[in-house]
Amino acid sequence: MRVCVIGTGYVGLVTGVCLAHIGHEVMCIDINEEKVKLMQSGQSPIFEPGLSELMKSSMAAGHLQFSTDLKHGVEHGEILFIAVGTPALPTGESDTRYVEAVAKGIGTHLNGGYKVIVNKSTVPIGSGDWVRMIVLDGVAEQQKVPVAAGQGPALPHPEVVADFDVVSNPEFLREGSAIYDTFNPDRIVLGSNNPRAIAMMQELYAPIVSGRYREQPGGESVPVLVTDLSSAEMVKYAANSFLATKISFINEIANICDRVGADVTQVAAGIGLDSRIGKKFLQAGIGWGGSCFPKDVAALIHTADDYGYDAQLLKAAVDVNNRQRQLTLEKLQQVLKILKGKTVGLLGLTFKPDTDDMRDAPSLILIEQLNRLGAKVKAYDPIVSQSGVSHGLTGVIVENDAMYLADGCDALVLVTDWAQFKELDYATMAQRMHSPIMIDGRNFLDREAMIRAGFQYLGIGR
Ligand code: UDX
Ligand code: UDX
Repeated sequence: MRVCVIGTGYVGLVTGVCLAHIGHEVMCIDINEEKVKLMQSGQSPIFEPGLSELMKSSMAAGHLQFSTDLKHGVEHGEILFIAVGTPALPTGESDTRYVEAVAKGIGTHLNGGYKVIVNKSTVPIGSGDWVRMIVLDGVAEQQKVPVAAGQGPALPHPEVVADFDVVSNPEFLREGSAIYDTFNPDRIVLGSNNPRAIAMMQELYAPIVSGRYREQPGGESVPVLVTDLSSAEMVKYAANSFLATKISFINEIANICDRVGADVTQVAAGIGLDSRIGKKFLQAGIGWGGSCFPKDVAALIHTADDYGYDAQLLKAAVDVNNRQRQLTLEKLQQVLKILKGKTVGLLGLTFKPDTDDMRDAPSLILIEQLNRLGAKVKAYDPIVSQSGVSHGLTGVIVENDAMYLADGCDALVLVTDWAQFKELDYATMAQRMHSPIMIDGRNFLDREAMIRAGFQYLGIGR
């Protein structure tokens, strides 16, 4: 099928490349010329394992192209994905101006022929109808032919010219495993009341639904859930809010464990074996960051407030999460007493491993607070150090190597659980440090091994 994906960020690019890989004719549109040029040369502007290989093969097969020309994209696609950013405003509300700009742009380029317009970006609940209205505004715009009063035929009503439906198709991709998640989804959610639109979306995803692209080929087929528009939008917010709340729950348990001398990793194992709870997302630590959890939970709280409901549980999950950064800082003060003049090394900067995404990364708060308290901050991150891009980082010296990071440090804080941090030569690092203290912000390292390497080891809740 002919597909246009508008917005080639962490979600749009992965969606476009994967749909091209399964045989669709995909055109990816982005407003950022630099990005488009990079992608046209076969390079991915984001770090996502496996993405650039798929990009290259799909481009070589002639199934994938990139452009800044929205008109061209709208005319090409029978299915148009809106995957532009919906960042959080300071109030927590979703900033939907990019979605609005794109929806209007689509409207001005609709040229007849039925289209399905898909909300892939996470948009506030009830946006489906709003997007429809904006697209129709765009259609009216293209029809705006100046007609002298009382002269000429009345303009056809926008509904007449524009033959389209809006579908909500929320994404559940985890950064760092977005390709895997695309081909091995737990479910596909389609929100629309229009059978024709649903049928086209089911045809689009059929190769994935069949299980043919699962890691174990021939795996079971993927459940497809068809709901109304608002429910599909709510599924996305409810899923992310539940996952974020689950993490805040285990962090609350960790904080109590710290006081009663229990080990939260053992507690997590104990409750995770209950099939109603499940093992995943019970890793206590410095808390959640990234471009989705903070934004989506804030947006859901804001939506609830808009409709006169105080979402206390979600607000508490956010409060617990914010406090985890503070607790990590307090552990540093516990062992180092005065932080002024001390040197603290951060192992990891990105919000999670296997990504280059720094959005809402816990490291940013630590850097800011440590500088405020007069400490010197150094960091080593496998991606950020390598890319040489400062990612707008200030108040931190980014080292190229964990050994240089250890030099002269009064303490290390493991902020991101990068796999390679398990293999570092901690015995040598301990000798190069001013005082060998490790605060393991992700409970990621082996406590006994760290003590044998010469560290004073502190975990979160263990
Ligand atoms: C976005 C939303 O932020 C998220 O809520 C949703 O779940 C998926 O899409 P992400 O892909 O991370 O997530 O957004 P981002 O990385 O900011 O990429 C957005 C892209 O859209 C950028 O490449 C930007 O250049 C492009 N864009 C933005 C347009 O092409 N047109 C616009 O008008 C605005
Ligand atoms: C999340 C959702 O998982 C995904 O379905 C949605 O589409 C987008 O948001 P992402 O934010 O990319 O994906 O990463 P995720 O793996 O969910 O981690 C989010 C944050 O939670 C990270 O900061 C991670 O460090 C933290 N986390 C995760 C924990 O602190 N403990 C855990 O047990 C799991």
